[in-house]
Amino acid sequence: MGQVSRWWAILAGVFSIVSAQDVANQKIDQLNAALKDTAGTIDTTDNGVQVNTSNSLRAGPRGYNLLEDTAVRKKMLHFDRERTPERVVHALGHGAYGTFESYGDFSNLTAACWLRDGAVSEVFTRFSVVVASVGGSESGRDTHGFATKIYSECGNQDFVGNHLSSFFINDGADFPDLVHAVKYEADKGFPTGGTAHRTAYDFFDHHPEGAFQLMNVLSDLGIPRDVRHMSGNGVHTFRFINAEGKSTLFKWFWLPKLGHRSLFYDEVTKIAGKNNNFQRVDLYNNIAAGIYPEWEFAVQLFPDDGSYMWRGYDLLIPTVIVPFDENPPMKLGRLTLNRNPNNFFAEPESISFAPSNVVDGVSFVPDPLLQWRLMSYDDTATHRHGSPNGFTLPVNRPIAPVNNNYRDGYMQPYIYEGNSTSTPNSIGGVQEPGADATLAYTAAAGEQAGSGPIGRYVSQYDWFGQARTFWNTLDKFAEQHTVDAYRFELGNVGDADVVQRYINNTLNSIDNCLARRVAFGIGSTMPEMGSGPSGSGTIQSNSSMPKTFSSLYPLGATQEPHKSNEGLQVALIANDTLGTQADVQAMMSLLSAQQVSLTVVAPRIGMLKTGVTANASFITTSDVFFDAIFIGSLATTNGTSGSGLDMDSYNFVMEAYGHGKAIGALGSSGSGILSGLAIQSKPGVYSGDAARVANDVLDALAGPVRFPERFPTDDVNAICGAA
Ligand code: HEM
Repeated sequence: MGQVSRWWAILAGVFSIVSAQDVANQKIDQLNAALKDTAGTIDTTDNGVQVNTSNSLRAGPRGYNLLEDTAVRKKMLHFDRERTPERVVHALGHGAYGTFESYGDFSNLTAACWLRDGAVSEVFTRFSVVVASVGGSESGRDTHGFATKIYSECGNQDFVGNHLSSFFINDGADFPDLVHAVKYEADKGFPTGGTAHRTAYDFFDHHPEGAFQLMNVLSDLGIPRDVRHMSGNGVHTFRFINAEGKSTLFKWFWLPKLGHRSLFYDEVTKIAGKNNNFQRVDLYNNIAAGIYPEWEFAVQLFPDDGSYMWRGYDLLIPTVIVPFDENPPMKLGRLTLNRNPNNFFAEPESISFAPSNVVDGVSFVPDPLLQWRLMSYDDTATHRHGSPNGFTLPVNRPIAPVNNNYRDGYMQPYIYEGNSTSTPNSIGGVQEPGADATLAYTAAAGEQAGSGPIGRYVSQYDWFGQARTFWNTLDKFAEQHTVDAYRFELGNVGDADVVQRYINNTLNSIDNCLARRVAFGIGSTMPEMGSGPSGSGTIQSNSSMPKTFSSLYPLGATQEPHKSNEGLQVALIANDTLGTQADVQAMMSLLSAQQVSLTVVAPRIGMLKTGVTANASFITTSDVFFDAIFIGSLATTNGTSGSGLDMDSYNFVMEAYGHGKAIGALGSSGSGILSGLAIQSKPGVYSGDAARVANDVLDALAGPVRFPERFPTDDVNAICGAA
């Protein structure tokens, strides 16, 4: 390449980057145009007339309010209508803006413009939980929603997925029943904070296709620490179509660059009481601090030969996953969340996602769950916004031009000119695309509709094999947590028949020992030893389905052995004699180098006698919000005995210890304090030089994260017999 042409190539490259960024900025400009700043303005009516609506108009200082006070009446009328209906599922959510960058040119796969070389698009992602209503706890055990809208040049592309790889059902016709069964019990009105018990487990018993998904929810994957440490999963198979009309099937994932981290169930219940917004606070604060979470957009690809099968995996059955070992996901781009919303109602509450929102190059398959989703979201959005015009709200509006004959309806914001409202027309209205235009919502070349006689079909599969292999990948601690979660849920069902049926029909079909352990813990009848799948009377596996594979996401400490600690929080316990400025100094640079924040927790907030400033107290915070705990070194040894910790500090440390967290006791007093607590020399407990201890704790946080060997585990041999 000659000097001049090389120069032009560089310049062209620069321009293409600039124009890609411009595309992303278009959405920001559009949103900025909708911003309204009322700071310092004078109160007016909605007619723009200045008025005092802080004091009612009254017939004398002690008299009745006057009907004539239309200004306050309007204020009240607006207030009375301030809520829109909450989402029927995934009501409790929050989100942020960011960007999606394509890693390269994927036009061989898809015509989607957001996967072109250098493409950068603005996005909004909303995270949610399915069951809890607005105001509930975001940390509850649940399937968490992960919905992303890419505002691309060629229109909005939505990815509406969950944080787990599978689902509870395979046919959308069952979705209303599923939701009725898991939300609060209809007669009682509880539980509102999490999944119901009797109705849910009765439903699960009738839907063995959800056995794997339920086990995922009941494993530690079901209680992610926060949204930065969880994946997004499309669950269904989708279709890429390239400009030549060639179709390639895909399943999509958002893989967190920070890896996966989970809470302990005891923490979940405490966080629900102490800060039910822990997840949104974590995301908001990290973004505000410039620590932007990232996920890679990855796809598993499958050739489209019309069968929707791949190596024995049925791609039309959303509860069936394809292991990463067998089909490693290919990374196509990166999602970065970097901007908090300005207004909770106008942005995360008002955004509407729909799996049917795709651009040219992305399409669907005849999966009976997906097919119902394609209608349901637009329908519910129309109800929720009280109007089919919800797509005109700033957060929903595409940057691509919108021109059609949709007209009128509640809150129509446009004043359309002219009188043509039909297509085709010869009087200046919206025209049909030309014959050579590339269009979304068209079939791939040669795509066949229908695969047999019309009928109501039930998928046949081995619903338990997938759950069994998942169970077999759990280490003994992850296994214990999952057994405990089944015990908690089934132990609350309150209907012994429902419980026994679930144990016999589902758990025992997954694994006899799992069923016996759960039954043992809740006083149910244990299925006969060896009566599960490895013994006689097993449910036959689908012979075409591979028998062993690992979980898509890690649950043992050996996977993801070294995670990033970005955005984690640690506490230093201090009081008037505990914790020195030297402790803080020794730790600070090490912690901030890994973007880990330090909170000094003491009996009171403010300057302590040691000169250290406490920014939280045992009343304002709790150990459950921290990933590791440090105990300050003793500034004086006068009057200390045993651990030297007061009751609040003792509880703080010991509960965190009980949750498997790393504990570091700083300075020469550290080992004495730890031996007073009787935890000295235990795994994950460190003492001595402050900088060394800080490093040890940071290493522990990166992996293994927790030290679960501190907890009792079942005597498996006694319950299940020697292996
Ligand atoms: C036929 C089955 C399903 C139906 C009928 C259905 C229906 C709905 C409805 C009505 C909403 C409320 C939307 C709103 O008011 O804005 C919703 C939200 C949601 N659904 Fe589904 N759903 C189904 C299956 C699924 C599956 C399989 C997934 C995951 C792969 C999923 C993920 C989500 C997410 C993430 C949201 C929250 C979107 C947001 O943040 O606004 N749903 N669903």
